[in-house]
Amino acid sequence: MNYNHEPVLLETALQFLEPQPGQNFIDATLGGGGYSRALLDYVIPEGKVLSIDLDPAALENYQAQLSSKQKKNAIAVHGNFRNLDDIVRNHEFYNIAGIVADIGLSSYQLDQSGRGITFQNKEPLDMRFDVSDPTTDARFIINNHSEEQLKEIFRNYGEDRLSGKIARAIVQRRGEKPFHYTTDLTELIRESLPKPQQHKWQDTARRIFQALRIAVNHELENLETFLPKALDLLNPGGKLVIISFHSLEDRIVKKFFVESSRGCTCPIDFPICRCGKNPLGMILTKKIVTANEEEQARNPRSIPAKLRAFKKL
Ligand SMILES: C[S@@+](CC[C@H](N)C(=O)[O-])C[C@H]1O[C@@H](n2cnc3c(N)ncnc32)[C@H](O)[C@@H]1O
Repeated sequence: MNYNHEPVLLETALQFLEPQPGQNFIDATLGGGGYSRALLDYVIPEGKVLSIDLDPAALENYQAQLSSKQKKNAIAVHGNFRNLDDIVRNHEFYNIAGIVADIGLSSYQLDQSGRGITFQNKEPLDMRFDVSDPTTDARFIINNHSEEQLKEIFRNYGEDRLSGKIARAIVQRRGEKPFHYTTDLTELIRESLPKPQQHKWQDTARRIFQALRIAVNHELENLETFLPKALDLLNPGGKLVIISFHSLEDRIVKKFFVESSRGCTCPIDFPICRCGKNPLGMILTKKIVTANEEEQARNPRSIPAKLRAFKKL
C-alpha cells in the first residue's frame, strides 16, 4: 500500500515529549505512522506506544511498516480518540508519559483515498475518515440537511462570507438533481459566485469542502472531548502535545491549556477561595510553535501547523 504522509513538526514534538527508554506513549492520530515509529525507537525494548486512528487504511499501512523489533511494543487501535479512556482501559495501557495528537487529515486521505476530501478531483462526496462507519457522509449532509443547517456548517467551520447563498443554491439544486460527486458541488460553488469573483472560486471551494469535512467527522467535538481525558490519563509530569491545522481547533487547545493551568477562579474580592480549583499543570509553549522556514519550504502542508504543549503537575 502506498500511504503517503510526511510528518509535520516531528522533531519539535519529540523535544517536548522527551521520550526515554522504557516509557509508554500514546499517539492519538497514527496517520502515516511517522510519530508512532519515532516514539517506538526511543522507548523500546521495554516501553510501548499505543496508536489510534479512525482510518482502517492507516492501521493497515502501519502494520506493514513495523520491523519485528518494533511490532512487539506497538499497539494499534482502530478507534476514535474521543474514546481515549475506554481504549486505554480495554488495552490496560497505563503509566503514560506522553500523549501526542496531530489533528486533522493525512496526505493519503487528501490525495489518494478517493473520498472526495479534495475538490480538485472528481470523487464521490464521502469525506469520512472512518469508512467502516456507516453513519453520515458528506453526500447525506448535502442532500438532506436544511438550508439553515448547511449555512451554519459553512459559516462556523469554513468562515465563508457566501455561506447563506451557497446553502440556498444547494437546497434549490438538489430538488432537481441530488449531489453525488465533488464536481457537482464545485460547479454549484462556481456558479453561485458573483461574476467578478468567479476566477477565485477555488478559495471558496476550499473553505466549503473543509467545513463539510469537519462536520462529517465531528472534528471539533472530538477534540473537545479528547483533551480533558488525555490530561487525566497522563502520569504526573506527563506531556500533552497537540498539533492543529485550523484556527478553530487551535482556539480549543489554547483555551483548554489556559484553563487547565489556572488555579483559583474566584472573583478577586472574595476574601478566601471558594472554588478550590488548583492548576493541573503548566503550559510549555508560551508562544505558539510553527514549522521553521526549512520545513515549510520542504513540506508546504506544514505551513498552517500550530503546536502547543502542556505538562501535567
Ligand atoms: C495529520 S494525520 C497524522 C499524521 C501522523 N502524525 C504521521 O506522522 O503520519 C491525522 C490522522 O488523524 C486521524 N484522525 C482524525 N480524527 C481522529 C479521531 N477523532 N480519532 C482517531 N484518529 C483521528 C486521521 O484519520 C488521520 O489519519
